[in-house]
Amino acid sequence: MPRLPVRTRTLPHKYEITIGRGTLRDVGQVARDCLGERSQRLALISNRKVFSLYGRTVMEVLQAQNFSVSSWLIDEGESQKSLRTLASALQFLTDTGLQRSDGVVALGGGVVGDLAGFAAAVYLRGVPLIQVPTTLLAQVDSSVGGKTGVNLAAGKNLVGSFHQPQAVVVDLETLTTLPKRELTAGLCECVKQGAVGSRKLFKQTNDFLLESRSPANLTSPQLEQLIAAHCAFKAAIVSGDERESLVRTDRRSRKILNFGHTIAHALETVTSYRKFRHGEAVGHGMLVAAELSKNLGLLAQSELELLREAIERCGPLPFAGDLDEGELIKAIAHDKKRAAGRLQWILLERIGRPRILDGGDVSPALLRRSLRAAFKKRK
Ligand code: NAD
Ligand code: GLY
Repeated sequence: MPRLPVRTRTLPHKYEITIGRGTLRDVGQVARDCLGERSQRLALISNRKVFSLYGRTVMEVLQAQNFSVSSWLIDEGESQKSLRTLASALQFLTDTGLQRSDGVVALGGGVVGDLAGFAAAVYLRGVPLIQVPTTLLAQVDSSVGGKTGVNLAAGKNLVGSFHQPQAVVVDLETLTTLPKRELTAGLCECVKQGAVGSRKLFKQTNDFLLESRSPANLTSPQLEQLIAAHCAFKAAIVSGDERESLVRTDRRSRKILNFGHTIAHALETVTSYRKFRHGEAVGHGMLVAAELSKNLGLLAQSELELLREAIERCGPLPFAGDLDEGELIKAIAHDKKRAAGRLQWILLERIGRPRILDGGDVSPALLRRSLRAAFKKRK
């Protein structure tokens, strides 16, 4: 069973990602190992659906390690990443009497992980956090690297903190209950990491998609290797640029992980988070960024086609060609304002070779052309 070390400059300086099948049963031992004998209480934050599937197992293995465990469950959806839910989470932590030597366990997808992680970051100025991600997206991306936070009415992830976990436990078995769209969304994030990471990671992802066909074969032995490779890539990037330095524009900047996200955020905003899963929006966003890269003379058509084919293999994406272009461009401009007028486009020179266009002004005409090309219906 792979155990990947992640190095951090801030506490805890090093943590491990445990990856395997049936690893939920190891969560108790992992928690005891990283929190030590002084730790008495754990606060488990999950959502109703995930808890009904896996909550009992996790509670039992934690209790078997003599933790007193309290659980608190949120509802479904991105709307739960809010200040209001955060306030309730903090109230729960207070009610459990959680101390600084105790810990928070986040069991669920990226929504649970981001919310519970932020609560752990700010409660008592920071208590230990253990991430137990149960979506593919959370396993390869959001549970690793310490970004936590909630949304404001003005936009996504506008309040947050870097708070590194003490451990991440990935159980591939949990993916067997994941709805198909959530798998597609997670696979899109894998394609993203391959596209900006390396040709090798892209090929490994594409080979998995080709071999497992749709829906992805979750019993394939390649899946464990794929998830491990993505976690290792993400760990390497975040260890080298833990807090996403504003000034870095090199190819190992943490910003490269935002490939496709400028458009993805715009798609999510104009549809009030109702039409696209986050990873699906990233799927469309990568295509627009690739079209832009091609139109700016950076990326060859053949590379763009490789990317398009890989995204198509992830599964169907909700159609985006019916959205109002003007609204999308307005939403992108809003993002630019938030970045102090210096929108940074994450583009591609080829698969595995990202390029950050610093403060790059992409004309509305070029953007429109790229949006149309990316969203065109294909047979
Ligand atoms: P999610 O957390 O909403 O989970 C998707 C759905 O799957 C939910 O309905 C959930 O109940 C269900 N689910 C979860 N695990 C399941 C399982 N094993 N079986 C059956 N159903 C299951 O969505 P997500 O895609 O995991 O996360 C998206 C969020 O992650 C967004 O808010 C995004 O901003 C955030 N994110 C954060 C980071 C980061 O670095 N912190 C990175 C990428 C994305
Ligand atoms: N998902 C982007 C990051 O962790 O930086």
